[in-house]
Amino acid sequence: MELDLAIPDLVKGWRMWSDLHYPGDFESSIVREHRTDLPNSTLLEIGCGDGRVIKRLAPLCKSAVGIDLNQEMIAHMQLEQSKAIEQITLSSDCGQPPIVSFENMSATDLKFSDDSFDIAIMPWCLHQIDDRQKALSEAKRVLKPSGHLFVFGLLPGGDYEEIVKLLGLDPGPQVDPVSAYEKPLAETFGKFQVAENIGPEDKRQHFGFTFRSLEEALRCWDWALRNWHSHNPSQADLSFISTQLRDRVGENRISMDIRGTLYVCEKTGEEQ
Ligand SMILES: C[S@@+](CC[C@H](N)C(=O)[O-])C[C@H]1O[C@@H](n2cnc3c(N)ncnc32)[C@H](O)[C@@H]1O
Repeated sequence: MELDLAIPDLVKGWRMWSDLHYPGDFESSIVREHRTDLPNSTLLEIGCGDGRVIKRLAPLCKSAVGIDLNQEMIAHMQLEQSKAIEQITLSSDCGQPPIVSFENMSATDLKFSDDSFDIAIMPWCLHQIDDRQKALSEAKRVLKPSGHLFVFGLLPGGDYEEIVKLLGLDPGPQVDPVSAYEKPLAETFGKFQVAENIGPEDKRQHFGFTFRSLEEALRCWDWALRNWHSHNPSQADLSFISTQLRDRVGENRISMDIRGTLYVCEKTGEEQ
């Protein structure tokens, strides 16, 4: 559906990066493999960004809510949603309004009642949260008994972070998986399962960003450095990035790997 909305630069640039995730349905296909009862399930995405993941899962679920701390991103998605609902209501009597909604809130202070969702997902978000224990307790609180939490935990060593570091910039939190993920998960849920290791060594779960050309890559990097690292790239920075990316050129595309671990936890009621 074509929506006549002016897209702010933040959303435009973020979506430029979202479109580069390869394979694009990576997270949603893993959730689908683990939970075959999506049509009867209510889903919450914590830290949904521009909705890249939840928009794939929402049409398969009973209902879905995405929350994020980023107010500008959420405001834009709420506007898009209300326009989409308006168009469906005006144009046909058989279309179903989208069952996904977006809310601006913090993972550490969820404005939902206890036992609200069957599934909660946190793709590539937990590393950005200081009080991870609190965020996980909140996720558990809003899950129904027997509900599942899926955490895609980012690990250091991915190509994006490595290039940012080589440029002398802050790559963001470089977390240790045991203290950042496993300890708080065990303390909150009692136990957790390492469901997938995500990285270049694991052929099945090869996942990352792909650019169709060096020009596209430099456009994306230029935006990312300005918006995510408050750094105006010089010509020398961009030449340096080109050199780094030349080592990552494959057949007709340039790839940057993401490393991570997928943890799955169940709210069993046995934990404290
Ligand atoms: C790397 S992005 C991932 C976005 C999305 N899940 C995806 O996979 O495309 C991390 C997101 O977590 C959000 N975030 C960080 N801290 C948060 C918090 N305390 N509560 C809610 N969202 C948070 C950021 O605003 C950002 O949108």
